[in-house]
Amino acid sequence: QPTHFLDLHEIDKAALRTMIDDALAVKKARSGKPKGTRDDDRSLEGRTLAAIFEFPSTRTRVSFDMAMRQLGGDTMVLNSGDLQLGRGETIADTAKVLSRFVDAIMIRTSDHGKLLELAENATIPVINGLTNDSHPCQLMADILTFEEHKGSIEGKVVAWSGDGNNMVSSWIHAAGQFGFEFRVACPEALSPDPRALDWARQTGANVHVTRDADEAVRGADCVVTDTWVSMGDDAGDRHNLLAPFQVTEKLMEKAASDAIFMHCLPAHRDEEATAAVMDGPQSVIFDEAENRLHAQKAVLRWCLGQTR
Ligand code: CP
Ligand code: NVA
Repeated sequence: QPTHFLDLHEIDKAALRTMIDDALAVKKARSGKPKGTRDDDRSLEGRTLAAIFEFPSTRTRVSFDMAMRQLGGDTMVLNSGDLQLGRGETIADTAKVLSRFVDAIMIRTSDHGKLLELAENATIPVINGLTNDSHPCQLMADILTFEEHKGSIEGKVVAWSGDGNNMVSSWIHAAGQFGFEFRVACPEALSPDPRALDWARQTGANVHVTRDADEAVRGADCVVTDTWVSMGDDAGDRHNLLAPFQVTEKLMEKAASDAIFMHCLPAHRDEEATAAVMDGPQSVIFDEAENRLHAQKAVLRWCLGQTR
């Protein structure tokens, strides 16, 4: 069975911890090197990643490609509409064919079921580059970013105010796996995926859902949010429902005085968070974006058996 990276709750805790430590080590090891140069150990030399996109992407696309280049490997970026997949070739056949050509597949797709079907049929590792259900690669970058700014995340408090979307599910999984408290404030109609909440309940993960943003954020070490309209969503009544959950400077005052603000991007200033927060002194959003590169290197190395 290949080593897939599909969802954080299905991966061994110790392996996740090792990947974060590896990401930090790999980042430090190439500090100051020009972006286009290879890492000294070229740990994925001769390996190729196929990166399939059904949705647009800036960070995931560019960071996976740069990660593979710096690791000494190559990436093929494939828009799903250009593949026979877009004309009805099955996922299973696509998985089997790609497995004969390349060493790993990353896919961004709406339907989580497609990701699972790809993984079931591939003989090479498959990586979740975002589905409607989850975004685990982003969480690896987020944990790395949190720890760079605030030390070990274990026992800390992270508060979410906004839509209970795919990012929230991955934050819930991360809370259980990395041992921190995760509080979600969201409207009832946009509550987190019940499967993620059930997993938290069953495993004793420290996750709480409230309708009150102030309550969630009180004393938190980190405040995080995301777009109000995810890819594939209709805006509908979301702006009205989510208005009370906007992250403002006033809401940030409820958090710990040294709290950081995170957002996976792309962002909409003065919607999910005010421009003052997004671009303010507590915001670490661009460190978070950069860390996609370093965290993904660790994920790729783990999937391909190259973690030190
Ligand atoms: N955060 C993130 O996944 O960004 P992209 O959609 O640009 O890849
Ligand atoms: N929740 C967002 C994340 C984008 C990276 C979406 O799914 O569109």
